[in-house]
Amino acid sequence: MNANGLSRQLVEAEDTVRALQQELAETNRGLIALAMELESRVDERTVDLRTTQEELQRTSSELLQMTLELEDRVDQRMAELREANERLQHELEERQRAEEALRRKDEELRTISQQLWQAAKLATMGELAASIAHELNNPLATVSLRVESLLAQIGEDDPKRRALTVIEQEVERMGNLVSNLLQFSRRGQAQISSIDVREELENTLALIYYHLRNHRITVVRQFASDVPMLHADRQQLRQVFLNLLTNASDAMPQGGTLTLGVTLGQLEPSMPAVSITFTDTGIGIAPEDIPRVMDPFFTTKEEGKGTGLGLAICRRIMQEHHGTIEVSSTVGQGTTIRLTLSRTNGSNGLYL
Ligand SMILES: Nc1ncnc2c1ncn2[C@@H]1O[C@H](COP(=O)(O)OP(=O)(O)O)[C@@H](O)[C@H]1O
Ligand SMILES: [Mg+2]
Repeated sequence: MNANGLSRQLVEAEDTVRALQQELAETNRGLIALAMELESRVDERTVDLRTTQEELQRTSSELLQMTLELEDRVDQRMAELREANERLQHELEERQRAEEALRRKDEELRTISQQLWQAAKLATMGELAASIAHELNNPLATVSLRVESLLAQIGEDDPKRRALTVIEQEVERMGNLVSNLLQFSRRGQAQISSIDVREELENTLALIYYHLRNHRITVVRQFASDVPMLHADRQQLRQVFLNLLTNASDAMPQGGTLTLGVTLGQLEPSMPAVSITFTDTGIGIAPEDIPRVMDPFFTTKEEGKGTGLGLAICRRIMQEHHGTIEVSSTVGQGTTIRLTLSRTNGSNGLYL
């Protein structure tokens, strides 16, 4: 090859190199631009991603908030439900209690009506006894007169005299019983008179003397020697005594001792009074029953035996006499009923 050829080739090569260089530079620029574009895209995506992440975080915290609120609401509803349930339970219990009370009242009513019937029956029997006693009065008077005239006809040492005297005594006792019975059944206005409680106690004891003896009950009297007279309704006081004596006797089915006491005491400070005590050695009263024994119709006795009216009547009569009645008792040992009546003249009689 010649020099011309060579130089031309050189020029061409130089051109090629230049062209190549240019191309390279362009490619380089293109690459840089591409790199820059890529970088900016990556930045963009990063921002996008961060936003998305932030959004996600927000959403998740909102969700958490909502969950918390929901939980709160659920808790609240649960509490409300529980409260409603408790209220319902309470109402149910109250209703049950009311039903129970109603049932008890119903039962009480049934017993009371039964006892009322019993009391009415007893009252009728009392009237019947009174009318029989009344009817007995005349024949007794006749027998008494006949015996008296027979006794007057026979001699002092006639062997029949003893039998006739016994008949006379027994007829007299029958007469006393009848008149006592009549006194008890007579009702009406209170009649206040001056009475000696010891005497009235004796009279009432005489009424149930045989009954006490048959039940092997020993009566012990502890009477003060100097007891003032009281103003009281004799019949009513005897009724109190009789009720207390029969209660004491009922309390000693196997027999025992009944101690009657009459002492001087005080009703209130500076109010002189007479106390009458009935102490038995009977079964006693359970402590929980003591506050109830004077309630009308309270009885622990079997049906047909007790009316539950005895002590209620005693309390009413004592109140009418401005006196008091107290019960003390020990189960298995016995009971003491203490009556206290004012002895200030006239103040213990309602009707004076
Ligand atoms: N002396 C007593 N000893 C034991 N219990 C008594 C005595 N007196 C009364 N009670 C009790 O008091 C109740 C009421 O007495 P009361 O009113 O007289 O009625 P009742 O004799 O008809 O039962 C009796 O059922 C009995 O339980
Ligand atoms: Mg009684």
